[in-house]
Amino acid sequence: MFEQCLALESWLYYHARSVVGASKRSHLMKRTLWIPREPDDMLILGLETSCDETGVALYDTERGLLADALFSQVDIHVEYGGVVPELASRDHVRKVLPLLEQVLADAGCTGADIDGVAYTAGPGLVGALMVGATLARSLAWGWGIPALGVHHMEGHLLAPMLEDERPEFPFVALLVSGGHTQLVRVDGIGQYRMLGESLDDAAGEAFDKAAKMLGLPYPGGPHIARIAESGNPDRFDFPRPMVNRPGLDFSFSGLKTYTLNTVAACREAGELSEQDKCDIARAFEEAVVSTLVIKCRRALKQESLKTLVIAGGVSANRNLRQQLASVLAKEGATVFYPSLAYCTDNGAMIAYAGAQRLAAGQVDDEEATVRPRWPMEELPPLSVAEPA
Ligand code: KG4
Ligand code: ZN
Repeated sequence: MFEQCLALESWLYYHARSVVGASKRSHLMKRTLWIPREPDDMLILGLETSCDETGVALYDTERGLLADALFSQVDIHVEYGGVVPELASRDHVRKVLPLLEQVLADAGCTGADIDGVAYTAGPGLVGALMVGATLARSLAWGWGIPALGVHHMEGHLLAPMLEDERPEFPFVALLVSGGHTQLVRVDGIGQYRMLGESLDDAAGEAFDKAAKMLGLPYPGGPHIARIAESGNPDRFDFPRPMVNRPGLDFSFSGLKTYTLNTVAACREAGELSEQDKCDIARAFEEAVVSTLVIKCRRALKQESLKTLVIAGGVSANRNLRQQLASVLAKEGATVFYPSLAYCTDNGAMIAYAGAQRLAAGQVDDEEATVRPRWPMEELPPLSVAEPA
């Protein structure tokens, strides 16, 4: 695995040279902290390669998102029923440079216009992360600009800031993706306090596993949501895990077992019909959504806050958005979420998060380091990373 990563990296490094073109600053300049040219006017390249989506974007701190390109590897992994890490790394290598050329063309820019490179440094699949990290470091070196590793979940958390209506700090964030289910108090960028998280499966993972039980393709969340629309809401009543216990942690493994048992019971009674599948999907989705809604309300109450942000792949779920919006509106609270394209993995959220930190003077050293596991609370607040 390690040798394969190295081979991929050498290939990328070699080919990145053709994209580098004119150098902006001397690449011999070695810095770990740099002084931003003009914090109000920085063009940042964002690279996302943590899992099965290759995302590249250009974010300008004055003009906003200039260009954004994404390639989803779903068709590659679908036959395996989940992400195959080695195939993911290889495909990132194939797609990332064409996507970079595409965003440069779309934005009418060249490498010489870029002021910094932000890449996802973790959490994620190590080989996949290394592709983005290596390319980011190579480009930064070639262009003589800083690079910064961004935390993938911070990217998700800040994605609603790409919208016209942005939440103001402090707020509670519900981060719901394929790998994480977390409730976080957010007092500013890098000021995170974990309020609760899943003790076992993440919400997205539970959607994916339930979908598999129903014979639906990977990734299962959107498929469950689709067939749930034709489901009878009164046929099954699935348990809402951990809602009767105090605290803000989640657990979805019991719900998974309940789903499996319901599928088995339907099969015993005859064939698992299309309507059975829709009814089970509906009950499953209802159980996850109402569990998330209950915990979000509890978190807002505990923290005496009226603003909720939801982000990550599961925040694309329409039922979740609608229920949160209507329940919170009755309590005078507001929910913010990214537009659908920025709920799941994308380069724009990494470019945005990186731009905030690079503008504050934060920058990595020249090693391409990635962190497959990386607690978000370890991130420094922006004030710590002030320019020298
Ligand atoms: O944030 P994301 O793109 O990748 C990770 O960082 O994990 O999230 C992917 C997850 C998958 O588990 C997928 O099934 C789920 O988000 N997802 C959904 C929906 N769209 C994506 N889950 C429920 N409803 C959806 N509409
Ligand atoms: Zn994600």
